[in-house]
Amino acid sequence: MAELKNDRFLRALMRQPVDRTPVWMMRQAGRYLPEYRETRAQAGDFLSLCKNADFACEVTLQPLERYPLDAAILFSDILTIPDAMGLGLYFETGEGPRFEKTVRTMADVEALHQPSADGDLGYVMNAVGTIRRALNGRVPLIGFSGSPWTLATYMIEGGGSKDFRFAKAMLYDQPEVMHALLDRLARAVTEYLNAQIEAGAQAVQIFDTWGGALSHPAYREFSLAYMSRIVKGLKRSHDGRTVPVILFTKGGGQWLDAMADSGADALGLDWTTSLTDARQHVGDRVALQGNMDPSVLYASPDRIREEVERILAEYGKGAGHIFNLGHGIHQFVDPDRAGAFVEAVVELSPKYHR
Ligand code: CP3
Repeated sequence: MAELKNDRFLRALMRQPVDRTPVWMMRQAGRYLPEYRETRAQAGDFLSLCKNADFACEVTLQPLERYPLDAAILFSDILTIPDAMGLGLYFETGEGPRFEKTVRTMADVEALHQPSADGDLGYVMNAVGTIRRALNGRVPLIGFSGSPWTLATYMIEGGGSKDFRFAKAMLYDQPEVMHALLDRLARAVTEYLNAQIEAGAQAVQIFDTWGGALSHPAYREFSLAYMSRIVKGLKRSHDGRTVPVILFTKGGGQWLDAMADSGADALGLDWTTSLTDARQHVGDRVALQGNMDPSVLYASPDRIREEVERILAEYGKGAGHIFNLGHGIHQFVDPDRAGAFVEAVVELSPKYHR
């Protein structure tokens, strides 16, 4: 594999000094880019795009052609695992993801197929290898998975949800069924992320999008415990380099202390948490990634720049910050505003590293 030319992102994840704050955007390849919409139309639908390594590679690289980003993220989805477990993932236009089957009982859990990372999910590993070759060392490639809890919500509800009616009922009334499901998911996620690392992912992120919907004790028992187990089961070095792990719980600002003890190298933050407070809580245990409100990208370039400056100052001087949005970029953002954001980080951050 080609020598890595830009290791700013990996260094910051390990809290090593850098010349400026590295930057990437969650969901940086996606519908806000006209070139993405064009490739998706060629592929037919979203899942065909994920399952074809050349298409997945093409859209992974699209944001890098436009902006001076410091990392690429594998183009795929967190719902590949439940799909491979036999639930039948599909996308209804404008409706988001849906599953043909749901998981509501112990019998449903026991009927799940335990997916193999190289067989059922081999198409993801092909995409990782293809993207690494195309990147040719330009920036590191991030692999990812959903957290067991977040995946479980989609599997139990049969798609996205606002109140998690069935998942919460299961958690409170039948915790043993929930734990059996989370246990299977944790095993699948560990194997899946390790396979991505073997295939060439140079850092991995666990997306716990719905952890923030849990109560204080339930977060530890049903989300963090399983993410910690996964972190402990990951291959933390490959090809002579450390492979850092990022945990991102949306709405998890009050649990950073416990998250920092998981063994992860970095924590992702949404915009409801102050970086100053977060840094005080975690000390030198982990790096911090975030945390601009993605809706700031609807504002003017001047206002975006102001917000970038504010967040850089909020983290302050020194290593251990990766700039990102606090959640995925919205589909109606003007690509030029995303450009203004990335450029502001590139221009304004060097003074925090002198
Ligand atoms: O970051 C990237 O550029 C990599 C690709 C990526 C996608 N999904 C592509 C995608 C990543 C990292 C994800 C993660 C993901 N998927 C999460 C966790 C992160 C988060 O945003 O909270 C979740 C919860 C999902 C589940 C999922 N997949 C939903 C809810 C949707 C529909 C959402 C929407 O924006 O309408 C998807 C589909 C999806 N995944 C799209 C993309 C680009 C849109 C598909 C399309 O219509 O082209």
